[in-house]
Amino acid sequence: MAGSGGALSRSGLRGRESEIQELHTLIASVARTGSGGLALIQGVPGIGKTTLLAEAVTGAREAGFSVGLGKADELHHIVPLSSLAACVLHGDRPLLSGDAFADLARHHDQRIWLVERLAEAMEARAGSVPVLIALDDVQWADPLSRFALTQLPTRLRTSPVLWMLAGRPEPAGPAEEIVAAATDALPTVTVPVGPLSGAAIGQVAGDTLGTAVDERVRDLLDGAGGNPFLAVEMLAGLRNGRDLVAAREAGETALRAATETGDREAHVLALSGLGEIALNAGENAVALERFAALSAIDSAFLPEEIVAHQHVDDFGSSERLLLRAADHDGSLRQAMMLWAQAQQHLGLGRLDDADAGFLTMERLEEAVQVPVQQVNSRVIRSWIALVRGE
Ligand SMILES: Nc1ncnc2c1ncn2[C@@H]1O[C@H](COP(=O)(O)OP(=O)(O)OP(=O)(O)O)[C@@H](O)[C@H]1O
Ligand SMILES: [Mg+2]
Repeated sequence: MAGSGGALSRSGLRGRESEIQELHTLIASVARTGSGGLALIQGVPGIGKTTLLAEAVTGAREAGFSVGLGKADELHHIVPLSSLAACVLHGDRPLLSGDAFADLARHHDQRIWLVERLAEAMEARAGSVPVLIALDDVQWADPLSRFALTQLPTRLRTSPVLWMLAGRPEPAGPAEEIVAAATDALPTVTVPVGPLSGAAIGQVAGDTLGTAVDERVRDLLDGAGGNPFLAVEMLAGLRNGRDLVAAREAGETALRAATETGDREAHVLALSGLGEIALNAGENAVALERFAALSAIDSAFLPEEIVAHQHVDDFGSSERLLLRAADHDGSLRQAMMLWAQAQQHLGLGRLDDADAGFLTMERLEEAVQVPVQQVNSRVIRSWIALVRGE
């Protein structure tokens, strides 16, 4: 499906043919020559580095490599050697046991000794199979891991050990240092990951939407500028939009049928569904229209109408309806009414009253064990506490 040219790779990746080719060439060359190599996959956030690295890792595994794959984290600077930990501790055949690694990490003040122990473990493995050490998000590697990565590739250059790093250009430093340290001793390539081609983005869209991509979607995707992360996000938004459109059409059909047959219950169901759909779509005026019609048919839905007025900032109307509801004979759903009342206080800046109202509503919901607005209510009350400086 989705098209012209460019097969879907094993990792579900589109485009990137030349980058994959370059990495596979390096993998094959390390396996063939029995000596080291290093690749840096570099590009801006969301451009597809992790995806490309995953593809290369799959290729290396298939070529018989023993793979250690890890990912640095922004918090790694706190713990020495934590970024390299996953590379040597995990995988099909970990290079080191947890105990051995913990022992090494305890000697973090003896950097040269520690690097030599790591080198020995890698060298021993590389005596039987080629080894890939892959580290994602290298820009966040902790200082000790960075030091090790400036030493190890050169130290192991005569063994079949391949280093693959992926990272953002910012913060600059770690990747550049590691590449500079290796560059005279072993084959080193930097693979810049740029925007995906229009054709590849079109294929990603086809994969995501499961349908052929039309002109409108293509125009929308132009806004992603070839960044697959943005494209995927936009496509998800589009899909939600389509779901809402489909739901709205179903609701309108149900409403027409209910009007024709005069079925009151079906009418109520269709209007409340359409009101919710409009709220989710951010169409507050439409939501008000639906909920006003609904509460005219069944006054139990007065709270929904009140909240809909609040959504269009018509606090005068909601106040009027709240007063009318107070005279009501009590058939209204009380918790929903309290919710509407508290929202009214909140909208008009009466924080104490709002807080008290939400609390009462939470207690009522607890008592009847129907926790519809519990989470929302607590979030709003924490916000109120924050605003008051508590
Ligand atoms: N070539 C591609 N084909 C299809 N989808 C892709 C491709 N590249 C990336 N994606 C999708 O785009 C999103 C972002 O990709 P990825 O996580 O690899 O980016 P990244 O460069 O590693 O980002 P970060 O800098 O945040 O780590 C993911 O959802 C991924 O599946
Ligand atoms: Mg990534």
